[in-house]
Amino acid sequence: MKTNIVQRRQFLKSTAATGIGLLILPSGTLSGANAPSNKLNIAMIGTWGRADAHFGAISSENVVALCDVDENHIAHAARKFPKAKTYVDWRKCLEQKDIDAVICCTTDHTHAFIANWALNRGLHCYCEKPLGNTVEEARIVRLNYLKNKHKLATQVGTQRHAKPNFERVRELIKDGAIGELTDAYAWGNRQLRRSGYLPAKGTPPKTFHYDLWIGPAPFHPYNPGYFKGGPGMNCLSWNMYWDFGTGQVGDMGSHTIDLVWNAIDAGLPTTAEGQGEKFNPEVSPVELHISFDIPANDWRGPIRVHWYQGGMMPRSPKKYIDLKRIGHGAMFKGTKGYVICDYDSRILLPFGDDADLTYHKRRTKDEVIPPLGHFQKEWVNACKGDLKTHCDFDYGGKAIEMMLLGLVAYRVGKKLDYDGAAGRVTNSAEGNDLLRRQYRPGWILNG
Ligand SMILES: NC(=O)c1ccc[n+]([C@@H]2O[C@H](COP(=O)([O-])OP(=O)(O)OC[C@H]3O[C@@H](n4cnc5c(N)ncnc54)[C@H](O)[C@@H]3O)[C@@H](O)[C@H]2O)c1
Repeated sequence: MKTNIVQRRQFLKSTAATGIGLLILPSGTLSGANAPSNKLNIAMIGTWGRADAHFGAISSENVVALCDVDENHIAHAARKFPKAKTYVDWRKCLEQKDIDAVICCTTDHTHAFIANWALNRGLHCYCEKPLGNTVEEARIVRLNYLKNKHKLATQVGTQRHAKPNFERVRELIKDGAIGELTDAYAWGNRQLRRSGYLPAKGTPPKTFHYDLWIGPAPFHPYNPGYFKGGPGMNCLSWNMYWDFGTGQVGDMGSHTIDLVWNAIDAGLPTTAEGQGEKFNPEVSPVELHISFDIPANDWRGPIRVHWYQGGMMPRSPKKYIDLKRIGHGAMFKGTKGYVICDYDSRILLPFGDDADLTYHKRRTKDEVIPPLGHFQKEWVNACKGDLKTHCDFDYGGKAIEMMLLGLVAYRVGKKLDYDGAAGRVTNSAEGNDLLRRQYRPGWILNG
């Protein structure tokens, strides 16, 4: 119930101020994330496909609103959540007064819109990856979150982050297993080659609101080819087209750069460059290498960060290691060796005559970073509790801002200097213009 959650939030604030630790609601009920009186009122925007992966985590909450541009997809979720009100336009959905929290599982080109509108209405938000399709989109969502982080919980949908290996890799890097970190690389091998926007073909089914699906993007005629994927895979039918997605940068790139991002405590890059196949104005590249200068922080010096995709790969440190056999992976180079990993496993490769590992400050069992638990539930519990999640819109927002800046550098074809505080490319007017897009009239990014 909205009132309970709000009361609890106010109470949390006052107990934090007075230093009282026990959580007792004004009604006197002992509170906990699973207390029946403490359910979240959730709106699901996008109710099929990836949305299915959220049903379990929210089944004990109140799902009060379902919104999808496809009425059959609303019916799919309504079978699970029959009490929810239904909508085809997410702007109308967000007017519903009793909503506490929003889960966004729509196309990439609407994520930043929905996330901003949710935050601006005081709603917690879980947004599927990527958080935006442009640098500006990622920045505005992040800044809106930062303004509201004292009262709202957010999570970017990079659920692989809950795999314990993410923290084991971080520990190796931070505890000096490879000496001083100098470079970090991530890559993905998915290749979805498309030639250009699909030609007009057929008419949308009556139950499908195609104009709302296009939403803020420039109009492209209907073609069933954008909708031919099965549940949770349909994104592969549209995410290579610039007006809808950013290809593998936003797709597997969001997940795999997270392996690096979690281990390097990075701020925004000061430069970006990109190489790859010839730029296609309709379709994002398959082959791409983007790289960044990341400033020093309090535990490491400046480093270079790289993302490779579509067959482009970093060089293996040893001929006997074939990095190409790791479909989506990461590698960290330090002054005394390498860590090579995928989502679930890791290899430590000490390197050089003095690589005796005496410099590796291994943790004791009780110093090991605790497990995150269930990724979606972490957000649900955070909405009701301390608001803390591992992949909030600041953490995830900066990661995707960097990656999207890389796409701009690739497109401009020169090394860009970036002022992360201002969100400006300082050495290319063209690059600076490409940080943002124009939207169809009627669609407001930060509404
Ligand atoms: N975290 C992961 O591992 C993971 C896995 C798959 C997909 N995803 C992400 O989830 C999102 C959805 O992917 P998908 O494969 O389910 O795509 P999809 O094309 O099947 O879309 C999902 C649902 O959203 C609806 N929808 C689309 N635009 C909408 C809008 N403007 N308003 C309301 N509903 C809308 C669709 O009709 C569909 O029911 C993508 O952003 C994708 O990147 C994440």
